[in-house]
Amino acid sequence: MCGIVGYTGPSQAAPILLEGLAKLEYRGYDSAGLAVRDGSALAEVVKATGKLAHLADKTDQGRALPGTCGIGHTRWATHGDPSMVNAHPHVSGNCSGSGSGTVESDVVGVHNGIIENFAELKDKLLRHGYQFYSDTDTEVVVKLVDYYYNKYRIGPVDAINRMMVRVRGSYALALMFKDYPGEIYAARKDSPLIIGVADDAAYLASDVPAILKHTRSVYYIGNQQAARVCPGQVTFYDLNGDEIQLPQTEITWDAEAAEKGGYEHFMLKEIHEQPAAVRDTLKSLLKDGALSLADTGLTDETLQGLGQIEIVACGSAWHVGMAAQYVIEDLAGVPVRVELASEYRYRNAPVPKNTLMVVISQSGETADSLAALRVARERGLETLAVVNVIGSTIAREADHVLYTVAGPEIAVATTKAYSAQLIALDALAVRLAAVRGAISEEEVQRLTDELAAIPDKISRILEDKDRIQWFSSKIANAHDIFFIGRGLDYAISLEGSLKMKEISYIHSEAYAAGELKHGTISLIENNTLVVGVLTQPKLFEKTVSNMAECKARGAYLMGLTTHGNYAVEDSVDFTVYVPKTDEHFVPSLAVIPLQLLGYYTSVNRGLDVDKPRNLAKSVTVE
Ligand code: G6P
Repeated sequence: MCGIVGYTGPSQAAPILLEGLAKLEYRGYDSAGLAVRDGSALAEVVKATGKLAHLADKTDQGRALPGTCGIGHTRWATHGDPSMVNAHPHVSGNCSGSGSGTVESDVVGVHNGIIENFAELKDKLLRHGYQFYSDTDTEVVVKLVDYYYNKYRIGPVDAINRMMVRVRGSYALALMFKDYPGEIYAARKDSPLIIGVADDAAYLASDVPAILKHTRSVYYIGNQQAARVCPGQVTFYDLNGDEIQLPQTEITWDAEAAEKGGYEHFMLKEIHEQPAAVRDTLKSLLKDGALSLADTGLTDETLQGLGQIEIVACGSAWHVGMAAQYVIEDLAGVPVRVELASEYRYRNAPVPKNTLMVVISQSGETADSLAALRVARERGLETLAVVNVIGSTIAREADHVLYTVAGPEIAVATTKAYSAQLIALDALAVRLAAVRGAISEEEVQRLTDELAAIPDKISRILEDKDRIQWFSSKIANAHDIFFIGRGLDYAISLEGSLKMKEISYIHSEAYAAGELKHGTISLIENNTLVVGVLTQPKLFEKTVSNMAECKARGAYLMGLTTHGNYAVEDSVDFTVYVPKTDEHFVPSLAVIPLQLLGYYTSVNRGLDVDKPRNLAKSVTVE
């Protein structure tokens, strides 16, 4: 949500800023803006609603904006509608209109996050003569910095620090001060922000892809820390204004990993990267052929002594938790609770001692998941983060980290990160079962071999994607789709349904098949598509019966099952088979056709597959 970029150096800033913003488009946005200055006291502010291309057109791809220092922003509306006036950058000076054009303002800034006490701060600033042109909390925070800057006649870092003490909420901020040409000041709390220095230039961004072309060495600013960014140099400060040293992190993946590489969409590319994502994640958890959690720092004693596991996550990561609960409980015999992070954080659920809290998050920045992690830590729970982005906030704050190795994921609808999380949780389940003696050594070896075979099986499914493409063209005009299954098949249905609705905008729901008769079946009409997930041997017949009940009411049926269950063709209209594997691990295979179904349906409907409306890749606000 919201993307921030900044540049200061010898080159013209605006084209570099636009290029960086384009790499952050995946985060989701509805307007964009730039502020650039050429060393004078004036800043040139340009904003546009809608796609980034509008901003690029307005500025002749940035060429029309002179200046070698600037900041840019893509906005995902929180406070105030997606309009020119609310688009960033925002300025501290009193001005009419939308705060754009040539402005002489002490402070100009862009922001990602939410300032919770903005109304109270706005009142205070109004009393001190400030006027507001927008509805945003960002304008308030920019003016608050200006207020301290002018009232106490202090430097930018001190003014920022006073602001940080006063505001509640989350922020990544990039600010330019009129009196400090060629410099950008940054501050952050709970929203991502990185800084890279290369030769005689410096870059700021919400995420690595925006600056990877220029540098691989990045700094992650800590919570309530500030930075002064100058050409070729960056200095960090703590809340007292004292200079601090931060380590540099080397980004190991290359720029091509964040490019489409010949695929029509990032989502399709990422679907095809799943064999590698799963293989690499598994490889990172294998030591001499045996599963090991040693790199996470979780000891065998901790695993042996666990009384309960709580899995907390949002979106697809929560679906991974839903699948993992069946696997962990069945293999290791440890009770598992799966919670939505947004609910967990406000609930006062009693937690038994010896509970391990597992937070699953691709980005490591999801606001609710981060808040839930903090709640768990306050309650004294040991915490494990399963995270894809190295150095992200959740990874840094958890006691233990298990990194998935999916590489950068750009499409809003997750695919390869989901699969990497799933295999990581499966590996955790097997290791847990092994350490607790819940399964024999032979069984551990058999399951480990099954896990190792998953990547090739995913590749085989992908080779047969044309069938799904054909089927999706038949269903592209559907109004409602229901995904049903029991047990692990229900967990897969949840993800299949989400993939469908988020990118095709077709209403879809996932139901535990046994619940259909408690309400949902009344929605079945002639030709309503019902997708039955039928991979669990013990539950196969039960779900087939539920599908027959839908068929009797006019439904059109798709069955998704494993090779060998060919009798299903007698009951359904269209069947998709995935290779056989141990029943615990089928979700890793069964999800692939459902991802493809969502993808091709979105393509067939002519939609923006990678950037669906209203959604953001990384949800950094509540
Ligand atoms: C957004 C993304 C989903 C993701 C969810 C949780 O909604 O579009 O793909 O599952 O956030 O994100 P996280 O980064 O915490 O896994």
